[in-house]
Amino acid sequence: MSSPIWHPFTQHALTPDAILVSEGEGAWLKTANGPMLDAISSWWVITHGHRHPRIIEAIKRQADALDQVIFAGFTHQPAEDLARGLIEFAPPGLSRVFYSDSGSTAVEVALKMALGFWKSQGKNRTRVIALEHAYHGDTIGTMSAGARGVFNAAYAPLLYDVARLPFPAAGQERQTLEQLKTVVADAAALIVEPLLLGAGGMLIYSAEVLREMASICREAGTLLIADEALTGFGRTGALFACEQAGLSPDILCLAKGLSGGSLPLAATLCREEIFAAHYSTDRSRTFFHSSSFTANPIACAAARANLEIWRDEPVRERIAALAALQEERLAPFGKDPRFANVRRLGTLAALDLHVSEAGYLAQVAPELMKFFHAKNILLRPLGNTIYVLPPYCVTAAELDLVYDAIREAAGKFA
Ligand SMILES: Cc1ncc(COP(=O)(O)O)c(C=O)c1O
Repeated sequence: MSSPIWHPFTQHALTPDAILVSEGEGAWLKTANGPMLDAISSWWVITHGHRHPRIIEAIKRQADALDQVIFAGFTHQPAEDLARGLIEFAPPGLSRVFYSDSGSTAVEVALKMALGFWKSQGKNRTRVIALEHAYHGDTIGTMSAGARGVFNAAYAPLLYDVARLPFPAAGQERQTLEQLKTVVADAAALIVEPLLLGAGGMLIYSAEVLREMASICREAGTLLIADEALTGFGRTGALFACEQAGLSPDILCLAKGLSGGSLPLAATLCREEIFAAHYSTDRSRTFFHSSSFTANPIACAAARANLEIWRDEPVRERIAALAALQEERLAPFGKDPRFANVRRLGTLAALDLHVSEAGYLAQVAPELMKFFHAKNILLRPLGNTIYVLPPYCVTAAELDLVYDAIREAAGKFA
């Protein structure tokens, strides 16, 4: 009998069989089809590598003590330690931590915090500003902030309207900034993926324009939400992408790499004023958000171990070395006419294969994926955009396997 499972972002009529995975170690997965090099960090979550010993040990220890507990009115040490650690690691000015369990929920929480902040002051600021090509998750609220397109066309009647800014591509930044100035005054918040729009096609923009967007928001009193679900925990070269623009957002969303990618956990950090706006003896001003598994103790213990790894191990050096390797491996593709927009930010490398059809639904995407799988490499192109986002433990020799496969794919598909 075929599996009853309905997989995410999977067209079952075209991909009937999921690949069975039994083990993970470092940059590798053991699958029923043989070993597979995880060149996309299992959907951008695994940072140090699969099953980092300190994270696994922390999970085991916590599982022996406390598995789960209600988080309204109760707390536990892993959540307390992690919250203090996150405040220490995060850009300055963020003093409160709200836990949830995915990137989507971290963003939902951020949007609700922003609207609650204005409502509590009796101000009618409800409009959200977002970027063209943005992706913030797959719940109704986060899809609304995300770009409209094939991912959410069927649900359009459920989505709320946002003010949309053009993507600040190199040379077109002024247009984005000018448009921001026209809508910022009475908006609740601007939400951005700092420096790198992931699911929108691995699009990179400059730290300068991010800094200018932040400054326009600050002048207007509009909140800045940084969605670092993807960019957090080292992907862009710094611990958080915001650091590269030297800015502190009002609200910061963390997920994916928060637990080193080991367990589902998210956190939304905010400034004290936003917490204070909800602080009242009037119970109707409570921040009404929860999920059953808020701050699961085992996930928090894994994330606490992740922060310890960042404190004790040369993670920043590893990231710098990986970034340099990516740059080196990518360089020849810049001269290859079969590719366009060869780009890199920190540990991420991306390039667009010249094909007649572009966009997420480009037929070449599933064909490329199948081709890479047959070479024991886990890559999952976004349309004709091939990107490499490996865990930080990946070696030069392993990266060579990836880039050799990309070169070979160009020979077949471009
Ligand atoms: C920037 C960004 N925000 C939010 C999300 C949603 O995260 P999750 O899939 O954990 O809900 C993603 C997922 O890729 C993301 O890249």
